[in-house]
Amino acid sequence: MASSAVLLLLIFLLPGSLSAADPSHPSLVIAILARNAAHALPYTLGALERLDYPKESISVWCATDHNEDQTSDVLQSWVEAVQSFYHSVEWTAQETPWWYPQETSPKHWPDERYEHVMKLRQEALKYARDSKADYILFTDADNVLTNHQTIQLLMAENKTLVAPMLDSQTGFSNFWCGITPQGFYRRTPDYFPTKNRQRTGCFPVPMVHSTFLLDLRKEESHKLAFYPPHVNYTWTFDDIIVFAFSCLASGVQGYICNHHRYGFVNIPAPPHQEIEDDKLNFVHLMLEAMVEGYQFVSSRYVSPLPKYPDKMGFDEVFLINLVRRPERRERMLRSLYEQEISCRVMDAVDGSALNSSDIKRMGVNLLLGFYDPFSGRTLTKGEVGCFLSHYKIWQEIVDKQLKVSLVFEDDVRFESFFKRKMIRLLGEVRRAQLDWDLIYIGRKQVTTDPEKKVENVQNLVVAEYSYWTLCYMISLQGAQKLLNAEPLSKMLPVDEFLPIMADTHPNEEYKSYFMNRNLRMFSVQPLLVFPTHYTGEPNWQSDTETSTLWDDDNIRTDWSGSQKTMKDSRGDIHRVMQSASRDEL
Ligand SMILES: *[C@@H]1O[C@H](CO)[C@@H](O)[C@H](O)[C@H]1NC(C)=O
Ligand SMILES: *[C@@H]1O[C@H](CO)[C@@H](O)[C@H](O)[C@H]1NC(C)=O
Ligand SMILES: *[C@@H]1O[C@H](CO)[C@@H](O)[C@H](O)[C@H]1NC(C)=O
Repeated sequence: MASSAVLLLLIFLLPGSLSAADPSHPSLVIAILARNAAHALPYTLGALERLDYPKESISVWCATDHNEDQTSDVLQSWVEAVQSFYHSVEWTAQETPWWYPQETSPKHWPDERYEHVMKLRQEALKYARDSKADYILFTDADNVLTNHQTIQLLMAENKTLVAPMLDSQTGFSNFWCGITPQGFYRRTPDYFPTKNRQRTGCFPVPMVHSTFLLDLRKEESHKLAFYPPHVNYTWTFDDIIVFAFSCLASGVQGYICNHHRYGFVNIPAPPHQEIEDDKLNFVHLMLEAMVEGYQFVSSRYVSPLPKYPDKMGFDEVFLINLVRRPERRERMLRSLYEQEISCRVMDAVDGSALNSSDIKRMGVNLLLGFYDPFSGRTLTKGEVGCFLSHYKIWQEIVDKQLKVSLVFEDDVRFESFFKRKMIRLLGEVRRAQLDWDLIYIGRKQVTTDPEKKVENVQNLVVAEYSYWTLCYMISLQGAQKLLNAEPLSKMLPVDEFLPIMADTHPNEEYKSYFMNRNLRMFSVQPLLVFPTHYTGEPNWQSDTETSTLWDDDNIRTDWSGSQKTMKDSRGDIHRVMQSASRDEL
């Protein structure tokens, strides 16, 4: 549960008194426990550096041990760089052994390891008490406090024990709403409304962990202990549960506060997983935070681990982006970089910059009789621009004879372990010698019928009628087929054109304009990307649907009436189920 433990090989000095020089800023100890967290620490520490609280009033206490990665080096560099800014900095590291004797893997937690975490936290608490600190903030190495006001906000609650609710990439957070009489996690009806902020405030809860603030001036805090467990303790030997029991026995009520966004917590990887999985989960957390508009900013003093982006085995990875949407480009470029995926940005054709005579001059003509199935309107300029952008890529694929390419639009949200899953998919498709033209990586399935599974390739189905072109794999042969269809002279939205070419489109009349509708089209299932936002959601923005009509520069369209970008219930259900299963911790 916690990210660290230590055999105490300490270099503690006797703590000097941390008296509050400035009465408006009570003295604070920040205790960080880190183990195998070199991937996260630059961001965790970067966030701590940026907390809006005078550093003279803060003592930092950090500990690390038993690392297989560079956690010790990262922490040490940071401590050396920042110690003059803080009231004091204490740090302790144990380099060897890498593992606890009973440990079967770096993610395995024998009792001995829990015990070390408890002892360490107790050590930090003792340090804070001995130095007469007013508060102690505990935090884990993969908790990123993006809200710079976190300290003041928590202090203002005037509670003995208070935790900022941290967001994760799933239903996981740093509190429990319920606990069984045996000390196990109990699901309560309050959990998800709290976690999802349908219910906001500061709520009494039986368990807070990872990041929390203790007010040491309150008398009831004096009996709290992380170690040894309370004399009457019979529950599971787990650091967070031992502390929850101590709170119960001491009459200290913990609170979880969620009226602000404070920061993020990575989901704990199950014991059978590797450190590499922790890293990938952390990258996914960072990506999800970005979708919601929160950046993880690295420390000024320690750099993130180097990344080695590649094309995952594709001949090219394209990213379509409108030049006038730089914020989307930045998010996508960083999301791809963090996943170690390199890409080529293709400037999208800006439909809104074309007037109707430009469009006609380019040989674009609307498919006679096409109307949007939901709004009844004809093509928008945005849709023309979008079509031309994809078309430009198919042309390049054929010009350069690129055998296998991946195409992203710029409003994509990634499933966790995206790169690993893409590499596996590409490998299986090759090994199965599948004859394919296009594989959806993200789409909106229109039909509800189950689709035919592809033999010898896991998680691949024959795609029935689908919308969207968020992300797809395309072969040279596929691009050639699409160009051969000469779609510019009978244009309709690109996500209607693809199903027509695969002969899955229900409209016989549209199909009659296109010969050779033999595009071999598949889809991954479950999908590996989703749209960042859906129609009508606060940050929803579409350059295809919110646009002017292709042949009339005056009539503006908007999203009302369009169902295309409405939330796909399938994707939604998938995400909810995933969250639910990961919440049981
Ligand atoms: C903080 O809470 C204590 C009770 O624990 C109360 O006596 C005190 O007045 C409160 N302080 C403020 C500023 O509200
Ligand atoms: C432990 O439990 C016993 C029996 O319920 C009780 O009498 C005792 O006071 C408890 N000890 C502490 C320290 O709470
Ligand atoms: C359309 O735009 C072009 C420049 O892109 C301009 O030369 C032309 O006059 C415009 N036509 C109309 C009808 O506005």
